[in-house]
Amino acid sequence: MTQHQRLLIIDFGSQVTQLIARRLRELNIYCEIHPYQNVTDAFLADFAPQAVIFSGGPASVIDEGSPRPPKSVYDLGVPILGICYGQQVMMQDLGGKVERGHGTAEFGRAYVEPKGDEIDILFGWFLDGREQVWMSHGDHVSEIAPGFEVYGTSPNAPFAITADLHRQFYAVQFHPEVHHTPNGKTFYENFVRLAGFTGDWTMASYKDEAIRQIKEQVGDKQVICGLSGGVDSSVTAVLLHEAIGDQLTCVFVDHGLLRLNEAEDVVKMFRDHYNMKLIHADESELFLGELDGVSDPETKRKTIGKLFIDVFQKYAGEIDGAEFLAQGTLYPDVIESVSFSGGPSVTIKSHHNVGGLPEKMGLKLVEPLRELFKDEVRALGHELGLPASFIGRHPFPGPGLAIRCPGEITREKLEILRRADAVYIDQIRKHGLYDEIWQAFVAILPVRTVGVMGDGRTYDYACALRAVTSVDGMTADYYPFSHEFLGETATRIINEVPGINRVTYDITSKPPGTIEWE
Ligand code: XMP
Repeated sequence: MTQHQRLLIIDFGSQVTQLIARRLRELNIYCEIHPYQNVTDAFLADFAPQAVIFSGGPASVIDEGSPRPPKSVYDLGVPILGICYGQQVMMQDLGGKVERGHGTAEFGRAYVEPKGDEIDILFGWFLDGREQVWMSHGDHVSEIAPGFEVYGTSPNAPFAITADLHRQFYAVQFHPEVHHTPNGKTFYENFVRLAGFTGDWTMASYKDEAIRQIKEQVGDKQVICGLSGGVDSSVTAVLLHEAIGDQLTCVFVDHGLLRLNEAEDVVKMFRDHYNMKLIHADESELFLGELDGVSDPETKRKTIGKLFIDVFQKYAGEIDGAEFLAQGTLYPDVIESVSFSGGPSVTIKSHHNVGGLPEKMGLKLVEPLRELFKDEVRALGHELGLPASFIGRHPFPGPGLAIRCPGEITREKLEILRRADAVYIDQIRKHGLYDEIWQAFVAILPVRTVGVMGDGRTYDYACALRAVTSVDGMTADYYPFSHEFLGETATRIINEVPGINRVTYDITSKPPGTIEWE
């Protein structure tokens, strides 16, 4: 476990619990989210938090059996902040009252006004006399617990901010973690300052600590790491290499569905630049052979996923004495969020490339990124000296170009697609747009169209350009390129890539579309 000052977030199932963690990490505070069911007396004693936050949640404290923290949390002697449902839990546990909504439910923007003098000391707020906040509650506190005072009110929430300053228990009705509470960051900043946090969670210190932990876990044993060249696996590999050097062997599976020069670039960077032991498993013949005649998207994915595991297992099996498998699992993949349809549910990326392998091969897992969010992984990559161009790369799907080649995959189409994609990305970089875009690529369409070049008729493939903005890939908007950019790019692709004579731009958002074409 980390040696930093720790904050515990007890999750009661709010949609925005992860945002609390994001806000705190931005303040260099180490925190973990745990579902309330897992937070027992023993857990609390072991975790030894320096402060605790109760998240919001969809349940009603009035209902029997509604989610609760263990009573011992109030005896830890550390500051506690309750948010929304968390406020109601705290009030009811400590002797206050909560009532059902009936006309007092409040959803959306509200303004909280100060009450009493001490609020400025507390949260440094109310510079303009009132603060905009985001409310989302049905039930409300009707009587605060003994020892608490009111420090802020809104028209529908007379107990918008309450606190017991003596015990350092703070309870608010609104959500300071969401974007719609514009000064929410200051709110958290003041809470953690009051709780005595110094902001000791930095990437430099994390790196040293992670290296120490890896050495401790692995000892003198051998580790295998599946390297795709994506940010997560690259940072995992470089971190492990720094920790254990030649005890690490990376396996890079080349399925023949990579972008132009991608395999060479990955091999050059990790084998030559970082001097890592790297197996370049060039299995393109195998993959393309198995995909011959396959046009259904899900069959493509399944075929690739199965072969990937077989191939990885074959190469990994040749590494003498390997006991560990390193994976770039991130924190959002391991957070157990509370599911109200029944118990905690674990969210795991459905397309983990080596899913099921550790058990099959009897390998133990090394997951040095499992405490980090994506932007923290990038910061760690930066700390490890990975080039910015690598760290900032757009996501690339495991099945690669297979799902950007709707219909049957042929070597000819893949070759055309690679070249068109390279021109497109070159254009985007030249125009300084790469970092504004979440993901950009070309899809080659399974149609030939008639064109005219010089004096001759052409009958070649059409392609679609795709570029989207997104925060997490779950929803996306098409990127609003200028007409000049699109025109110039179309001309370049048609002139430079034999086999394409028509270029279209995909302006579908997600939903209803998806980012990839398949
Ligand atoms: P969609 O197309 O579902 O894509 O809107 C969302 C994000 O996920 C990536 N993606 C995949 N990644 N295996 C992966 O590793 C897959 O099968 C897969 N399908 C989509 C996609 O590139 C985008 O970033």
